[in-house]
Amino acid sequence: MNPQIAPSILAADFSNLQREVELLNASAADFIHVDVMDGIFVPNISFGIPVTEAIHRHATKPLDVHLMIVNPELYLEPFVKAGASIVTVHLEACTHLHRTLQEIKRLGASAGVALNPHTPIELLTEVLEEVDVVCVMSVNPGFGGQKFIENSYTKVANLKNMILKKGSKALIEVDGGVSEQNARRLVEAGADILVAGSFVFKAPDPIAAIASLKSITI
Ligand code: DX5
Ligand code: ZN
Repeated sequence: MNPQIAPSILAADFSNLQREVELLNASAADFIHVDVMDGIFVPNISFGIPVTEAIHRHATKPLDVHLMIVNPELYLEPFVKAGASIVTVHLEACTHLHRTLQEIKRLGASAGVALNPHTPIELLTEVLEEVDVVCVMSVNPGFGGQKFIENSYTKVANLKNMILKKGSKALIEVDGGVSEQNARRLVEAGADILVAGSFVFKAPDPIAAIASLKSITI
């Protein structure tokens, strides 16, 4: 089994966004990961709906939209209309997570829920059957290029067990500090989707960097 790869456009050259999207189109990437930040849920502002829509206009890969925003339930429809195939909300940002996940699916997208590094997987117990993707944050969200948090291996392995026990079909995505150094161990622990920003876009050959993650076989 090979992992699915979701390069994060956050690490791309925003002044050449079309060229960067075309690069990802030509790669082995399975998704384009789109990091939306509001400056409130996380201490950084990235971009929002119009930029997501512009990425979608040039993308031949599905968009995996990671909403690092408060009140994400207010913006589900605009992001699905802008082209999101997966909409991921943060558990910590949702008072009515069950309702929000159902709404994402009603709009025709896959429903993702992201967990900050401090958030225990057990908080998913009652909603796991509504979830298509669990995004395990392996850095504190807000910035690309941060150091991978080592506890994430155990968290992914425990989550995999929980998913298997419950007979859930949820995929595990890992986001933050992913590189050739940790990718194999993450896939062995149960990761299905690897997000990678800096590792891809800071590489001399981003296409080869994506291929190297994609070629991991367990
Ligand atoms: C962090 C974002 C990540 C980030 C990953 O807040 O959610 O998706 O872009 O970037 P790297 O791979 O550089 O840690
Ligand atoms: Zn992300």
